Amino acid sequence: MKSTTNNQQPTTAPTGRSRPEGRVIVALDVDTFDQARRLLDSLGESVSFYKVGLQLYTSLGQAVIKELRDRDKRIFLDLKFHDIPNTVASVCKVVSSFGVDLCNVHALGGAAMMRAAAAAVEGCNTRVLAVTILTSHTPEAVRDELHIELGLEQEVLALAGLAAGSGLHGVVCSPREIEAVRARCGEGFLIVTPGVRPAWAEANDQKRIMTPAEAVKRGADYLVIGRPITAATDPAAAAARIIDELG
Ligand code: C5P
Repeated sequence: MKSTTNNQQPTTAPTGRSRPEGRVIVALDVDTFDQARRLLDSLGESVSFYKVGLQLYTSLGQAVIKELRDRDKRIFLDLKFHDIPNTVASVCKVVSSFGVDLCNVHALGGAAMMRAAAAAVEGCNTRVLAVTILTSHTPEAVRDELHIELGLEQEVLALAGLAAGSGLHGVVCSPREIEAVRARCGEGFLIVTPGVRPAWAEANDQKRIMTPAEAVKRGADYLVIGRPITAATDPAAAAARIIDELG
């Protein structure tokens, strides 16, 4: 693990982003430890950054973090915290002590919660990202169920701006939002985007996709990619092809 301890000085971003292979975060969306290990074995050195989500973390807990650290991988712990500021600050401290490079919170938790999260990881290598509006929400649901009057796109931008103003380090957003978020939040703000698909891969259930190269061209720092790699017959070859297209 390159950035493991809780007392290191912060860098401007988790290391490795400038190299094409450093931009790809593989979503470790599997059910069991065996499946995770098999995927890690087959990807070997070709991938250095993994996303662990709610499903795998709830089922395996810290064992999966340890496995990734033992393999010297960087980690995005995607648990989307949303609670009162004190609780979120405490959990951000905890995950920072695990040596994860990225974790995230819901921006809808508000400025005080995000400030507390940012303060909790100050001086550590963990970076905290904001999730704005979940992409599973439609514009109609945002208006009629959440009663957000601003409209989906403007609300996403407003929340990204709030996250940046609260001291968070970046945002998870759709590839379509990259340029607007970059313009609103500035150069140093990390943009991590799922919903990317190489031209040769299946879209699966992703609706508004963009190729990895296009997402990087528009300003994405990191790409979260799952099934085009994890469901490929040869995951290492699929990862290499994507990285090659980025180069
Ligand atoms: O397999 P696929 O490339 O679609 O995986 C994308 C990953 O990014 C999954 O872990 C998914 O949960 C996550 N994600 C997403 N869209 C969002 C936020 C997260 O696809 N808006």
